[in-house]
Amino acid sequence: MLQHKLKWKAFLKKNRWLADLYRATKSIEQAKQEWKWISQELRELHPKDSKLQIQRKIIQACKLRGRKYPLQYILRTQPFGSLDIQCRPGVLIPRWETEEWIERTIPLLNSIPVPNPIRIMDLCAGSGCISCFVSSSLKRPHHLHVVDISSKALNIAARNLRACKNDSSTLDTQLHKVNVLSAQEAMLGLLRECHVVLCNPPYISSTEFHTTTEQSVKRYEPRLALVAQEEGNQFYKVIAAYVFKLLKDPCLNKNALRYLVFEVGSTKQANFVKELFSGSFFDATIWKDSANLDRTIVVQRKGIQTKSMDENP
Ligand SMILES: C[S@@+](CC[C@H](N)C(=O)[O-])C[C@H]1O[C@@H](n2cnc3c(N)ncnc32)[C@H](O)[C@@H]1O
Repeated sequence: MLQHKLKWKAFLKKNRWLADLYRATKSIEQAKQEWKWISQELRELHPKDSKLQIQRKIIQACKLRGRKYPLQYILRTQPFGSLDIQCRPGVLIPRWETEEWIERTIPLLNSIPVPNPIRIMDLCAGSGCISCFVSSSLKRPHHLHVVDISSKALNIAARNLRACKNDSSTLDTQLHKVNVLSAQEAMLGLLRECHVVLCNPPYISSTEFHTTTEQSVKRYEPRLALVAQEEGNQFYKVIAAYVFKLLKDPCLNKNALRYLVFEVGSTKQANFVKELFSGSFFDATIWKDSANLDRTIVVQRKGIQTKSMDENP
C-alpha cells in the first residue's frame, strides 16, 4: 500500500498538470479522465494552434482546475438527460437534482387538460436547461416563455434552445429579460398567459452561502443565481403574491396557472412553499429527489385531475 502511494507521488511529481487535476478530483483515475477531456476540448476549440500553444492552454486549464474551477466551465458543457447543455462562467451549471424533477414533470405536462399549444414559463431560466429538456421531450405542441434577469444567461439559453429544439412540438420560444422581483406589470402579463410555471429560483440564504455552500460554487458560480433574501424565500413569496393577485381577477382564463413547479433547497423551505400555496385555490405536493431529500413542490390548481400527482411513486 505504502509502495503504491510512493509510486503515485513520484508519478504526480513528474506530471505537474495531472497533480493539479488530482488536487481537484482526489482520484488518479478521474484526474486522467479529466486530462483526456480537457486536452480533447482544447484541441477542438483551437484547431489552428500549434502543439506548443495547445500544451500551454492545457497546463493553464489544469492549473485552474487545481484551484477547484468547475470542469464544466473548462469543457463548456454539462450533460442534462440526453442533452449537452452549454455552460459559461457567469451562468449556473445545471444540476442533477433539476434534471430529475424536470424529467418527472414531463408526463404531467403531457396530461394537463388545457387546449394546445400548452404555454409554459421557465422562470429564472439560467442556461435554459429546463426549457431545453421540455423542448426535446414534450410531445404535445407548446410555447415556451424563458425568463431571466441576466443577459449572459439568456444568451446561453438561446444558444442551447437552438441546439436542442426537436421536431415541431416547440411552436414558439420567447426570451424575456425581466427582474422577477420588481417588474410586477411584466410578470403579471406573462403569468396571465401561461398554463404552467417551472421555476428553479435562487434559494440559498446569505447565511447558508457563507457557511455551508461549497467553496468552488461560492468562488466560481454566480451569486445572483444562488442567493435570495428573506432566508432564501424571497422569490417564492414574490411569485406567490403575483399568482394570488391574478387569481382574484374575474377575467383570468380558467386554464391559466394550472400548475406551478418549484425547486427548493431543504425540507424547511419545502414546507414553507407548500404552506404558501396551500388553501382554497391550490393543492401542493412535495417530491423527494433520489437522495431522499425534499426537492420539488408541485402546486396544482384545485379542480383538475391528472394521473401523475402521486407523492413519491
Ligand atoms: C438557481 S438559477 C437556475 C438556473 C436554471 N433554471 C437551472 O435550473 O439550472 C436561478 C436563475 O435566476 C436568475 N435570477 C436571479 N435573480 C433574478 C431576478 N431578480 N429576476 C429574474 N431572474 C433572476 C439568475 O440569473 C439564474 O439564472
